[in-house]
Amino acid sequence: MSVLAIDQGTTSTRGLLLADGRAPRILRSVEHAQIYPQPGWVEHDPEELIRNILLCAESAGEGVEAIGIDNQGESCLAWDGETKAAISPVIVWQDNRTQPAVDRLKAEGAETLVLEKAGLPLDSYFSASKLAWILQNIPEAKQLSAQGRLRLGTTDAFFLDRLTGHCVTDITTASRTSLMNLSTGDWDEALCSLFGVPGEALPRIVASTGDFGAIRLNGRAVPVTASIVDQQGALYGHGCRAAGDAKVTFGTGAFALMVTGSEIHRAPEKGLLPTVAWQKQGEAPVYGLDGGVYCASAAMNWARGLGLFAEFDEIDAFDGPSAIERGLAFVPALAGLACPHWDRKARGLWIGMTLETGKGDLVRAILEGVAFRAAEVLTAMDERVTIAGPLSVDGGMAANGYFLQTLADILQRDLVVPRGAELTAIGTARLAAEALGPVSEEPDDALVVRPRADLGRHRARFARAVELCRAW
Ligand code: G3P
Repeated sequence: MSVLAIDQGTTSTRGLLLADGRAPRILRSVEHAQIYPQPGWVEHDPEELIRNILLCAESAGEGVEAIGIDNQGESCLAWDGETKAAISPVIVWQDNRTQPAVDRLKAEGAETLVLEKAGLPLDSYFSASKLAWILQNIPEAKQLSAQGRLRLGTTDAFFLDRLTGHCVTDITTASRTSLMNLSTGDWDEALCSLFGVPGEALPRIVASTGDFGAIRLNGRAVPVTASIVDQQGALYGHGCRAAGDAKVTFGTGAFALMVTGSEIHRAPEKGLLPTVAWQKQGEAPVYGLDGGVYCASAAMNWARGLGLFAEFDEIDAFDGPSAIERGLAFVPALAGLACPHWDRKARGLWIGMTLETGKGDLVRAILEGVAFRAAEVLTAMDERVTIAGPLSVDGGMAANGYFLQTLADILQRDLVVPRGAELTAIGTARLAAEALGPVSEEPDDALVVRPRADLGRHRARFARAVELCRAW
């Protein structure tokens, strides 16, 4: 079987070919522009994303039997249901322009309803407030709405409506909007009316595998058989299948995700997000628990931009005690704090500098800070549903030996780092392939990182730094 996965992520679009008897292969990777019109606003150009998807798709030769597409999760936009032309930019998951509106809803006491129905806290991260913003601020959206032509949705639905004519969204992506009732898997009228998003403009919710229509490739119609959020694609790519299996991906942000099986595990007191892990066609949904850290590689790139280091291999190993052991800590709250704090007002912070502190110490504290933040999320998760076995880790920062060792030392748990790096695309491709028929699982070659020291005893100190960064 030969399957193409298109991984449409926050910074790039990647095409990966998964073919019987051959190692998965990236065919093409294309970056797109990150547009920052105002502080806190983050946009992508929908047409650029479509162009890049097609470039990746066209790089697959003859013989591709199916396509799977994964998406950025909460990023969303509006388009004309007749012409399929976008009428807004993609408002990216990182964008917090709607935080004042979300804060107003919080002040009105609406969070209980959203937690109960969608399972999610009130935060501008999720799509609902972004879709409402589009309707309120883009005049064409109002006009199209009056004519019954407006489509509002996450990027997956736009890609599919444009490329295959199926205006649908899969249940994992819908579970990231705050508009889906997690128990029923349908759009929820009370949530749509709370946020001011007209239900009739939303795509239909379907399973993550099945018939998503076809894309014409080299003159041939190739069926799209899987569509899923990228983090959920990665979860599947890590081989997490049973309740308690968990992974964390250190990309732009750090996203921990665990399979919880047929049960929804709500955990509002822990700030964790019950979500859908995947749903195969004709089967019941498999649920998950999710927790994100907004800035992981984003913090490293920021530090590099400041001139604290030039190349990533410079910050792979350090001498002497860790920064936290020397009283130096960094909280990567550069875009506020997500799970388990959900505090957009928190700000990044270094604390504990002396006249001896150098650039290397500051960078080391950032690496440790991302690991401590991820540990906060993973511990909250483990307290809700026990993480079974070692934790599977991937993403750009998983290439950094110091970072991995620090994470293992904080968690006091083995980490497994699969060597094939493209787990998101691999998971998406597997789902697309399984929609056609049974696929054998290839055992992944993995690096195991075992705890060597106990950094877990410094968690209380890091927690104090987190409190300080929230009080600013
Ligand atoms: O929640 C946002 C997340 O799904 C984005 O992941 O890999 O596109 O940065 P990524």
